Amino acid sequence: MFNLRINGIFLIACSTLLCAITLATTVDYDANAIIINGEPRIIISGAIHYPHSTSQMWPDLIKKAKDGGLDAIETYIFWDLHEPVRRQYDFSKDLDFIKFLKNVHEAGLYAVLRIGPYVCAEWNYGGFPMWLHNLPGIQLRTDNAVFKEEMKIFTTKIVTMCKEAGLFAPQGGPIILAQIENEYGDVMSHYGEAGNSYINWCAELALSQNVGIPWIMCKQSNAPSPIINTCNGYYCDDFKPNNPKSPKMFTENWVGWFQKWGEKRPHRTVEDVAFAVARFFQNGGVLQNYYMYHGGTNFGRTAGGPYIMTAYDYDAPLDEYGNLNQPKWGHLKRLHDIIKFGETLLTLTNGTTVTEKQYGDSVQLTTYENKDTRTKFCFLSNSHNSKDAQVDLQPGKFNVPAWSVSLLTDCRNELFNTANVEVQTNNYVKKPAGNLSLTWTWTSEPVEDTLQGVGTFNASEILEQKAITVGASDYLWYMTTILINDMSIWKNSSLQVNTTGHVLHAYVNGQYIGTQWGTHDKLDFIFEKSISLKQGANIISLLSGTVGHAHYGALFDMANTGIVGGPVKLIASSNTTTLDLSKSSWSYKVGLNGEAKKLYDPKFSSNGVQWNQVSNVSTGKPMTWYKTSFKTPEHNESVVLDLLGLTKGEAWINGHSIGRYWPTMIADTNGCSDKCDYRGRYGAEKCLSGCGEPSQRFYHVPRSF
Ligand SMILES: *[C@@H]1O[C@H](CO)[C@@H](O)[C@H](O)[C@H]1NC(C)=O
Ligand SMILES: *[C@@H]1O[C@H](CO)[C@@H](O)[C@H](O)[C@H]1NC(C)=O
Ligand SMILES: *[C@@H]1O[C@H](CO)[C@@H](O)[C@H](O)[C@H]1NC(C)=O
Ligand SMILES: *[C@@H]1O[C@H](CO)[C@@H](O)[C@H](O)[C@H]1NC(C)=O
Ligand SMILES: *[C@@H]1O[C@H](CO)[C@@H](O)[C@H](O)[C@H]1NC(C)=O
Ligand SMILES: *[C@@H]1O[C@H](CO)[C@@H](O)[C@H](O)[C@H]1NC(C)=O
Ligand SMILES: *[C@@H]1O[C@H](CO)[C@@H](O)[C@H](O)[C@H]1NC(C)=O
Ligand SMILES: *[C@@H]1O[C@H](CO)[C@@H](O)[C@H](O)[C@H]1NC(C)=O
Repeated sequence: MFNLRINGIFLIACSTLLCAITLATTVDYDANAIIINGEPRIIISGAIHYPHSTSQMWPDLIKKAKDGGLDAIETYIFWDLHEPVRRQYDFSKDLDFIKFLKNVHEAGLYAVLRIGPYVCAEWNYGGFPMWLHNLPGIQLRTDNAVFKEEMKIFTTKIVTMCKEAGLFAPQGGPIILAQIENEYGDVMSHYGEAGNSYINWCAELALSQNVGIPWIMCKQSNAPSPIINTCNGYYCDDFKPNNPKSPKMFTENWVGWFQKWGEKRPHRTVEDVAFAVARFFQNGGVLQNYYMYHGGTNFGRTAGGPYIMTAYDYDAPLDEYGNLNQPKWGHLKRLHDIIKFGETLLTLTNGTTVTEKQYGDSVQLTTYENKDTRTKFCFLSNSHNSKDAQVDLQPGKFNVPAWSVSLLTDCRNELFNTANVEVQTNNYVKKPAGNLSLTWTWTSEPVEDTLQGVGTFNASEILEQKAITVGASDYLWYMTTILINDMSIWKNSSLQVNTTGHVLHAYVNGQYIGTQWGTHDKLDFIFEKSISLKQGANIISLLSGTVGHAHYGALFDMANTGIVGGPVKLIASSNTTTLDLSKSSWSYKVGLNGEAKKLYDPKFSSNGVQWNQVSNVSTGKPMTWYKTSFKTPEHNESVVLDLLGLTKGEAWINGHSIGRYWPTMIADTNGCSDKCDYRGRYGAEKCLSGCGEPSQRFYHVPRSF
């Protein structure tokens, strides 16, 4: 207890115990509502992941979400960022998820905390810290003692931090729901009986945390009671929880889709998103969460994969930079207002009943009616994907366009139709930020050691990349030396490298001989180039690069990266003699020397290297660092960096990584259309744009960077 004296008035701040008593929020549920402080509620939520933006952006994003009619903000917790090294935690600055949840609370919104700690999220390694992979005896996401111990320690730590900050609803905080694991039902069968016992253990772990709010598991049709199973997808109107007492929840309504390098840009129309939302509430939905409400950016090397792009815009109601994506934001806001208008009836309280009537195959009238108050809230849906419908509800006649839902009071007054978008489309124009006549300098990546074959350790086999780098870098050098005696055989030969991907740069005797990479749908490849060898010792230096580690699927954590096992071969021109180098002595070095020297950080960038002047940046040399400076653009608009002209790499602003760039990854020229028909079921192949263009040319520079 402490007192503050301001202008002679005493303000008495309460102790934790008193606050808990006075401000506690109770969260309960039945099949028709989330019951908050005894009041049956329909909850509209949206995902905003704190590391997909910056702490400076959080209050504005949350405010725009609230203005958009949301009741709650949902986020995952990103284990890899918080525990990059085992038992060394980081919750500072942009990783301060407690502050994020406090911002949500201050805005008057609830929070949905999806701890996971496996999160998928198209995030590097699904959010697992990569050191997990190397713990002796570990198997991830199954009934394995080593994994369960780590998951328990981390989950308990997160819950304890939230408790200490008073963030759970019964403590007066914003968190009304918590999630354990994530979409395990998709992969459970691969783990056999151990998958079942793991899920039971997850449930016990969750319940043992005593957080006083319901726990959920998404896509888990065997979720053990009282854990509530929930639905993720584009549509969840047909979903039924596995327990008739559980509320029907749509934890991920995919408002668009993510993009990989080389892919076109996906769009999901707002008419279709609104249709999915309205159909869900028409059919007894209780909580609906947009995935994503703000997608944001995969800063640094957080993009998963392989090949997940830096922008994680997701065609969300708030675009990558946090601006309103219209008409999506505004049309959904209107829908939320109408759903909220019907909230009392939708929760079936005080004797409200629901009835359904079919008009042919595709038209359905659903009426929520309270006979005492003589009020009705009605949904009239037409699920046909091309035929509009005329329905006579006597007295009113209603036209319901194909693939749309009308919301009506008293089944008489149409308040809203999901296909009738009255909000204007907006377009953001990119303006050059003042006089940008940039002067670039460059320096070559220091490779004196690695081109000499000098690494930090040796092995007589070709090792798997992530097990060696443990996420410290995208890069691993594989180096070996071969002695050539008979030049008559090897005078004209080629080097062949079989790699699981994702990028390979090859050097022989210090000479660069070539680069190759996979594609988003085929990561592994065979590199083959003719080379010149010499009598005596020849040094082969292979630099393997990864572009995000797998984040999804059964055993995704075991997916190989790098040249693992090879083979790496020398092939004589006669093509009858080959020399398999796979069991030679290989030397290894993790990461680039420029990374170790922090050449990307202005505080260190003169660290023992010479920066050369260039009139333009395309020197055409691989493995080059480029540097320039510019004045912070005025005002407060989003800052966007156009990296067209560069090839592939990572970019930093004042030492903060804005992510990987790869503007030479051009999307296929076919499959885009100007017209996008919202009718019919959505799939990520529908409504694409950006054909023949770089998948990503523009990169977000947050103001705080
Ligand atoms: C239900 O009825 C009670 C008693 O008439 C009333 O106090 C309460 O506000 C009603 N609840 C709702 C959600 O309408
Ligand atoms: C832009 O800046 C360059 C270099 O600072 C200068 O030479 C040029 O005159 C400037 N142009 C304008 C329009 O201000
Ligand atoms: C690796 O092997 C090379 C060649 O045998 C040797 O010169 C070097 O010292 C070894 N490096 C380490 C780190 O053991
Ligand atoms: C390349 O390696 C893969 C395993 O990573 C193997 O299946 C394939 O047969 C190899 N190809 C050649 C040509 O060695
Ligand atoms: C070397 O071999 C390649 C095929 O592996 C062939 O295309 C090339 O002409 C040869 N060059 C010489 C100088 O023999
Ligand atoms: C060697 O022969 C194989 C099979 O005929 C062919 O695919 C490959 O390209 C040849 N390699 C070289 C270096 O000539
Ligand atoms: C930029 O660099 C490329 C490669 O060195 C060169 O071909 C080109 O002429 C240069 N352009 C200018 C304007 O200097
Ligand atoms: C920029 O500032 C204006 C005026 O203060 C404000 O209305 C606007 O929302 C701000 N924009 C951003 C992106 O913060």
